[in-house]
Amino acid sequence: MSPFQVTRTLPEDATDAALRVDVLRGLTAQPKTLPPKWFYDAHGSELFDRITELPEYYPTRAEREILLARSGEIAAATGARTLVELGSGSSDKTRHLLDALIGMHTYVPVDVSESALTGAGQALIAERPGLNVHALIADFTDTLTLPDTPGPRLLAFLGGTIGNLLPVERAAFLASVRSLLFPGDALLLGTDLVKDEQVLVRAYDDAAGVTAAFNKNVLAVVNRELGADFEPAAFDHVALWDAENEWIEMRLRSLTAQTVKIPVLDLAVDFAAEEELRTEVSAKFRKEGVRSELAAAGLELTHWWTDTEGRFALSLSTVR
Ligand code: SAH
Ligand code: AVI
Repeated sequence: MSPFQVTRTLPEDATDAALRVDVLRGLTAQPKTLPPKWFYDAHGSELFDRITELPEYYPTRAEREILLARSGEIAAATGARTLVELGSGSSDKTRHLLDALIGMHTYVPVDVSESALTGAGQALIAERPGLNVHALIADFTDTLTLPDTPGPRLLAFLGGTIGNLLPVERAAFLASVRSLLFPGDALLLGTDLVKDEQVLVRAYDDAAGVTAAFNKNVLAVVNRELGADFEPAAFDHVALWDAENEWIEMRLRSLTAQTVKIPVLDLAVDFAAEEELRTEVSAKFRKEGVRSELAAAGLELTHWWTDTEGRFALSLSTVR
């Protein structure tokens, strides 16, 4: 068997159908919203990788610092033989874990971005003879069927991507993660932490405009896939801190009153001048909140590590 397999867990047209449902629902709602998973076509995945290198975007560097310092402890605590990673993207930071997990049998990256999965998978098997990579093209909020590989399993969800789910979605997601774990398996969760508002806003509104381009890329995806006529230049990128919900919100603000046509949905969407479309929330966490959300899903937090500046946390939890 090839050391690199890709399994598409959805029918070929499922992505289109899901996009149609999300766009119809989101753009006819008040206020208008779109789910963040649609940022990540091949161009969006590249833009995200550029974001991770921006001076203002600290989460990737902070999480890498923790992984470099703690991967040995994570390996010793879990003895994992299968590493499943949800929203794996470029799998770049994952290499620190793979270095430490001696005896690793199979790495299972799971992502909606086929380009990110194939790029990362091919690079990994070339770099690491003996490692099996079984990539899953899947939506991690759906019920996942994982390949039959040796345990214990370590399920990693890095980058703070859990913060891109709304609280009700997070609860359902954590319950479904719990149902994938057997006794002896573990969850490694990356969570960005609440901090100074200016630091947060800068991380989502960088001087070079890469995050603005990433935000507007969702319009290009809807144009290409559904024949819409969004004009990205007719929207401004907005990043703001919602202190009550403790999340950053990314929005696209219509510069003028305009109507956007979406022929595949037979839909015309009116935007008032200054009307905003919410494209992402990025929740920031506190230790007790993470502990209680995990506990509500039947998971017990056993380890909590932060970077030296206390900006980001990695936690390990096991089945209760
Ligand atoms: N884990 C990497 C990448 C984070 S970017 C890191 O820490 O740098 C978020 C990743 O999650 C992207 O690769 C995106 O394609 C993927 N993603 C977003 N929503 C998803 C969903 N619902 N199901 C599967 N993958 C998703
Ligand atoms: C993937 N996710 C954790 C990123 C975040 O920080 O919420 C996505 C992102 N949005 C804007 N910049 C980065």
